[in-house]
Parts: sequence; C-alpha cells; structure tokens
Amino acid sequence: MEIELKLAVIGAGTMGSGIAYASASSGHDVFVVEQDQKLLDQGMKRINDYIERGVKKGQLDKSRAEALRTSIKGTVDFAKACKNAEIVVEAVFEDPRVKEQVFIILDRTCPPRTIIASNTSSISITKLASATRRPDKVLGLHFFNPVPTMKLVELIKGDRTSEETVITASKFVQSLGKTVVQSADKTGFIVNRALMPFLNEAIKLLDEKVATPEDIDNAFLLGTNHPMGPLHLADFIGLDVVLSTLRVLETEYGSCFSPAGTLVRLVGEGKLGRKTGSGFYGY
Ligand SMILES: NC(=O)c1ccc[n+]([C@@H]2O[C@H](COP(=O)([O-])OP(=O)(O)OC[C@H]3O[C@@H](n4cnc5c(N)ncnc54)[C@H](O)[C@@H]3O)[C@@H](O)[C@H]2O)c1
Repeated sequence: MEIELKLAVIGAGTMGSGIAYASASSGHDVFVVEQDQKLLDQGMKRINDYIERGVKKGQLDKSRAEALRTSIKGTVDFAKACKNAEIVVEAVFEDPRVKEQVFIILDRTCPPRTIIASNTSSISITKLASATRRPDKVLGLHFFNPVPTMKLVELIKGDRTSEETVITASKFVQSLGKTVVQSADKTGFIVNRALMPFLNEAIKLLDEKVATPEDIDNAFLLGTNHPMGPLHLADFIGLDVVLSTLRVLETEYGSCFSPAGTLVRLVGEGKLGRKTGSGFYGY
C-alpha cells in the first residue's frame, strides 16, 4: 500500500521512538515532539539506535539510514509538528491527566481534519476523545514493544469514532507492514486482558511451589508450542509493567486479576526482569 502521510508522534520514549522509526522507514514524514530539549535529544538517540540496528541487520543501507536521520524531525513545539499533520500518535506517560492535557493541546494545534490516535494501554478512548472537539477523529492505536518488530496493532474505537477515521488509521497501520485487530473500548483490550492473567497464574504456580521457573517455562514451550515461557516473557516485558497492568485490570474487573505475591516482592526489590539484569532469571 502506497500512502505517504504527515505524522506527528508525541513522546519519544520506548514506544514513541519505535513508532517514529517504523513510520519513517515505511515512507511517512515524521515529526517527534518531546517535553524539553534534553528529553528530545534522548528520544532522537533512541530513534538513531533503531536506525543503527537496521543497518547492522542489513535492513537499511547507509544512504537510506542517512535519509532517515534527516527525515525524522524533532521539536518541543507542538504547533510546529502538528500544523500539517494528517495523523498524530500520542505516546506520552500512561497517566489520564497528562494524556487529557496533551489531547486538549493537540485539538487546539492540529487542523480540524487531523486524526488523533492514542497508544494508551488502559485509558478510555471515549474519555480522551471527550477532551477534544473532534471525537469522531479520535481512536486508540495500541502498538506492541518493540514496535519495529511486533506485527500487531490493536485498534480501539471510542463511542463517536467515525468509520472514515477507522479506515484511514487502518491503512496507516497496514502501510507499516502491521496487522490491525479491532477491540471495544474495554480495559486491557484483547491482548493484555488475556495475557496478564496467564502470566499471573504462571507466577502463582511459583508462589505455591508447584514447579520450578524452568519447568513452568518448559511446560509452555514444549506442551503448547509457545515461543517463550510465561516467566521469561514477564521478565522481557518488565515486571513493573506486568504489575501495573494487573493493578489496572484488578481495579476494573476485581480480584481475579490480583497480582501474585512473588511478582509484588520482585518489583519491591527492584528486580524488574531483563532491563535490571534480574527477575525470575538472571541476565
Ligand atoms: N512500554 C510498553 O511496552 C508499552 C506497550 C504498549 C503501549 N504502551 C503505552 O505507550 C505509552 C507510552 O509508553 P512508554 O513505555 O513509551 O513510556 P515512556 O515513559 O518510555 O515514554 C513516554 C514519553 O512521553 C514523554 N512525554 C510525557 N509528557 C509529554 C508531553 N506533555 N509532551 C511531550 N512528551 C511527553 C516523556 O518525556 C517520555 O519520553 C503509554 O500510554 C503506555 O501505556 C507502552
């Protein structure tokens, strides 16, 4: 699919940097917005790391890498990034007040035709849309980490999202070589709603000394053909992320999502998985 969109990505953290890189390498014109110059420099470095990785893996040649470096523009000025944007993807902190504030600014600075997508993992799209005067042009696009490699995007319609917005956003996602699945605006959407209790139950097997970490993971590798065991996967996602997602699901759906004791303990000890060098396993 050949579409070339003008895009603004708000927040250049883990997700925003991946979304910016994936979009620019698929031919879109990308502006990245951060809170201040220092955070912007850090975000642009994350994007540059993706470019370097692309070169190392042979996915990008040197001239394409250089073209990407110059085509992804960074700014701390919302108005500059948004004035020509056709789609904005918001990827700021998972905090309803921060996101609502950003949506109010985006609504003021983007032209009326601009679609505003949130990468939120848990906040209601209908609620975010109600902070704007264009609820028909607001939707959720939930990317997965690491964005350049993960092929799925959950698309979430708010109460008033128009079909035209869904069609344009789906074409954008497909242009990145990714597949859209649609979810209702219910906490956890599809993947986290089903994955988090699965990971949590695997950790409860440890709590109850039913099996060792290695045997729990091997059971799923060999018994159900999962590419990665649940404890290994939890370490990869980040135990803090797993815990905070379970807390959100627990608040919404009740105690069936209450986090396992070992998970709470490891996070309390700062053992967050791969990123800190230890979790269920050492790295
Ligand atoms: N990390 C994941 O695995 C993952 C997966 C799917 C979805 N998400 C969602 O993506 C969003 C971002 O998560 P993340 O992990 O990239 O977070 P992160 O903390 O790595 O990055 C957030 C970035 O947003 C910036 N930011 C905050 N307020 C801003 C503002 N007002 N204007 C501009 N920039 C601002 C921060 O400076 C930071 O760099 C969250 O909604 C999260 O739930 C995360």
